Amino acid sequence: MALIALGVTGGIGAYKAVEVARGLQKRGHEVVAIMTASATRFVGPLTFEAITRRRVITDQFEPGANADIEHIALASSINLLIVAPATANLIGKFANGLADDFLSTLYTATRAPVLVAPAMNTQMFAHEAVRRNLETLAARGVRFVEPGEGYLACGWIGKGRLAEPDEIVAAAESILHPAGPLRGKRVLVAAGPTFEDLDPVRYLGNRSSGRMGFAIAEEAERRGADVTLVAGPTSVEPPAVRSVLRVRGAADMHRAVLEHASAADVVVMAAAVADYAPAEPARQKISKDVETLTLVLKRTPDILGNLGRQRLASGKGPLLVGFAAETEQVVERARAKREEKHVDLIVANDVSRSDAGFDVDTNVVTIVGPEGSESLPLQSKSRVAGEILDRVERLLLKQPVVSHS
Ligand code: PMT
Repeated sequence: MALIALGVTGGIGAYKAVEVARGLQKRGHEVVAIMTASATRFVGPLTFEAITRRRVITDQFEPGANADIEHIALASSINLLIVAPATANLIGKFANGLADDFLSTLYTATRAPVLVAPAMNTQMFAHEAVRRNLETLAARGVRFVEPGEGYLACGWIGKGRLAEPDEIVAAAESILHPAGPLRGKRVLVAAGPTFEDLDPVRYLGNRSSGRMGFAIAEEAERRGADVTLVAGPTSVEPPAVRSVLRVRGAADMHRAVLEHASAADVVVMAAAVADYAPAEPARQKISKDVETLTLVLKRTPDILGNLGRQRLASGKGPLLVGFAAETEQVVERARAKREEKHVDLIVANDVSRSDAGFDVDTNVVTIVGPEGSESLPLQSKSRVAGEILDRVERLLLKQPVVSHS
């Protein structure tokens, strides 16, 4: 899921921007609409407010809106800026760095990709000044959805009509999910710890921050995959992948992973799932009036093991990647886990080191696969994610047909 700023400028095509907003939402994106003063003369902000369920930004200097300098806050949080329709005036302002309203200020302040759908009279679109401005923007990396040809509102016939909403949404999707080696693949990643409640205020947990799994989810998305991230309770923000499902305990994570695994091409279990949970969590806070307290714990479901067994029994299922967090005999134990859980790759993680494993930005791993094991040097978790996905891609090529149930 992405956060998309949809700029609407004053053209007759402004009504089509409502469909663009709906199309983006249908694909799971959040949309914040920004209307220029002239756009509001074509369509009422209320229409966009009702569709996006967010306040529509119509004025840079609205009282109360500047407490945290909204255009700067939005500029750093959006994943994409779309302008549809974009008038010759707006294109001129973007090309020349003029920032005299919210939309043009946002353009200069954001580093997110920009997609512009021009719409204007045929002669205006062909005018040298407009052509030059479009070239300037293209040279800066701005992407365009070409206007369509046909009967224009001004009575002319020619090129200038706003592209159809579906085309604009498709162009946005291809920017958000660029063609990459994992394009069209569905990747499910489980990350972070699980918390097993002892009573209404206490739990058993572990030190996983989610960083390793988040890096894999982010890298898979960057390579074009459709990513679902199942995240345990972490304070680190998960990346803005297509779908993020928050869970708490091992049982919740088990349910969420199993529900989505059958549609996935690849499942990566980077989560530190609790192996044991209180057999019966207390309904009330456990009082401290006893000297010693004995907890009765029961095994949690082995999520990865269940996926491996299911695949073995049915002969179909996603490619499986597990992790093995160990403090001794790291690679030997990882190899044993790979066999035991019937998975394709196991990432052996020496968690006894202070610069690897839990709650740090770096990791040292050995990847154990069908052809043996490869030890990698200390590197960032993003790089480790890349190394793991390189091997996943190679295995997918060898097993091109992954059946979904
Ligand atoms: O989150 P970070 O702070 O970035 O830390 C990253 C990490 C250390 C958590 C990660 O790199 C890692 O090693 N994750 C696996 C931790 C773990 O639980 O390992 P394990 O050896 O106990 O489990 C083996 C595999 O089975 C793992 O893929 C695990 O997700 C899975 N498992 C374990 C128990 C269980 N009940 N169900 C499972 O699916």
